[in-house]
Amino acid sequence: MMLTEVAGDVLMPKLMSLIINEGVGELKDMGYIINTGIRMVLLAVVMMAGGVLGNYFAARASISFASDLRADVFRKVQGFSFKNIDKFSTGSLITRLTNDITQMQNVLRMALVMLLRSPGMLVGAFIMAITINARLALIIGIVTPILGFGIYFIMSKALPRFNIMQKKLDTLNTGIQENLTNIRVVKSFVRSDFEEEKFSAANTELRDNTVKALRIIICTMPLMTLMMNITTLAVVWFGGGFVIKGGMLVGDLIAFTTYITQILMSLMMLSMIILQGSRALASSRRVMEVLDTDSDITDDASMNKDAHVTQGSVEFKNVTFNYTDTGENDVLCDISFKIEPGETVGILGATGSGKTSLVQLIPRLYDADEGEILVDGINVKDYSLKNLRDGVGMVLQKNVLFSGTIMENLKWGDENATEEEIIESSEHAQAHGFVTAAPEGYERELGQGGVNVSGGQKQRLCIARALLKKPKILILDDSTSALDTATEARIRENFDTDLDSTTKIIIAQRITSVMDADKIIVLEDGRIIGMGNHTELMEISEEYRDIYYSQKEKEKAR
Ligand SMILES: Nc1ncnc2c1ncn2[C@@H]1O[C@H](COP(=O)(O)OP(=O)(O)O)[C@@H](O)[C@H]1O
Ligand SMILES: [Mg+2]
Repeated sequence: MMLTEVAGDVLMPKLMSLIINEGVGELKDMGYIINTGIRMVLLAVVMMAGGVLGNYFAARASISFASDLRADVFRKVQGFSFKNIDKFSTGSLITRLTNDITQMQNVLRMALVMLLRSPGMLVGAFIMAITINARLALIIGIVTPILGFGIYFIMSKALPRFNIMQKKLDTLNTGIQENLTNIRVVKSFVRSDFEEEKFSAANTELRDNTVKALRIIICTMPLMTLMMNITTLAVVWFGGGFVIKGGMLVGDLIAFTTYITQILMSLMMLSMIILQGSRALASSRRVMEVLDTDSDITDDASMNKDAHVTQGSVEFKNVTFNYTDTGENDVLCDISFKIEPGETVGILGATGSGKTSLVQLIPRLYDADEGEILVDGINVKDYSLKNLRDGVGMVLQKNVLFSGTIMENLKWGDENATEEEIIESSEHAQAHGFVTAAPEGYERELGQGGVNVSGGQKQRLCIARALLKKPKILILDDSTSALDTATEARIRENFDTDLDSTTKIIIAQRITSVMDADKIIVLEDGRIIGMGNHTELMEISEEYRDIYYSQKEKEKAR
């Protein structure tokens, strides 16, 4: 399609010069003029068809390219570990998935339309110009290198600026994303003004940097036009001289000017593609960065893919862990303990003591830096991620529900769960009562993030969802904090009677939540400072006694 257009571009001025030189000049033949004119009209129609179809296919191809690429990047991100996502930040991932890919799509479309046409036109017009008048064509030889250098200069300036521009867009998107997902907190702390200021600062930065990047492009067009006009002038000046001396026909001069214009136009188009291309290059590097990042938690090929969690024992051996790559600031330090199948284990400790970090290592949401973690005597790294996570049910501290019905949300735990199973696990989690109290029951729609249930109801639904997985190891990370003590006690009772073969690891703030546990681990600053059951700890651990008595007094005061 593009070649049709190029052929048209190159032939059209030639036909015109024929009309002028032969039809008007020598022959004065109306028939010849009409004949050639008709050929020009036909050529124009063919060119138009080529143009329309070419543009259509280019648009289709580039849109499909973007959609395929988005799917690939999204799939990649789904496989990322928490550490990978922490590194990119969600806002930046969103920019890369949307704006950056759109940028690439636009340039691809442009390139598909012009990349063949402008070089084709350049070469074709150049050849035609030389055949008409080789000496005059020298002018082109002078102008082209100047333009080429200009384009190179512009591109080398533009690329870093486009990079900065996309980074600023990242910052803006991260801000928007954080603000919108936490809009309730923002409002309740009356931080809207502060947030607006923060947004406005990021927005201004983006604007200024975009202007900076565009300033280069803005200068390009007028400069190009100036070059074009000067060249045309030079051609007419020298060419006019040839015509007056009788060395050139008027029609040839007209055709020649058209070819010169075409050459310069195609150089301009090329420079536009290169400019836009440098922008897309910045974007494509950012997209490639995502595609080239390997999840740092993967199934490696050597391991025993068939292993399943069957018993539910957990053992930590001298585990050390931190979130940084530099190995400083250990969040967990030399942690060792063993949990037998079916045991209930409580973890106590101040906020920031490393409780969440500790349990996240069991289903490999993060990997330990030193030491090993064994589940059923097998290193967690030797399970396939699927089998390991199927065996470990975890209710995260910051857990969310998704938009959809309650039923749909619970089925995350087990897609094929029967209604009885769903009711059973809801009963165990003390959720059945309030769910059926509403007329829609399990068909009730939850808003985004589960906004239309209370904190305690959300926690109970999250527990029910985890129970549906029928995990061998159940981890509750502060998942009953919003429940009253009576409801919490009933859930604990249910656990004791109905989940006696499941290993339960319960992180809690209230000592009463873990008092009956077989074993309690007390954490402080990432170290275990006490381990044993309630009676033992009351005897041996001063810290445990302190927590116990201070909570008891508060209880009394109420
Ligand atoms: N994603 C993270 N990246 C970096 N540091 C983190 C991250 N999550 C937690 N931390 C740090 O690790 C320490 C332990 O946190 P955490 O395990 O959440 O404590 P707890 O659950 O006992 O309150 C804290 O000092 C916290 O600042
Ligand atoms: Mg925590």
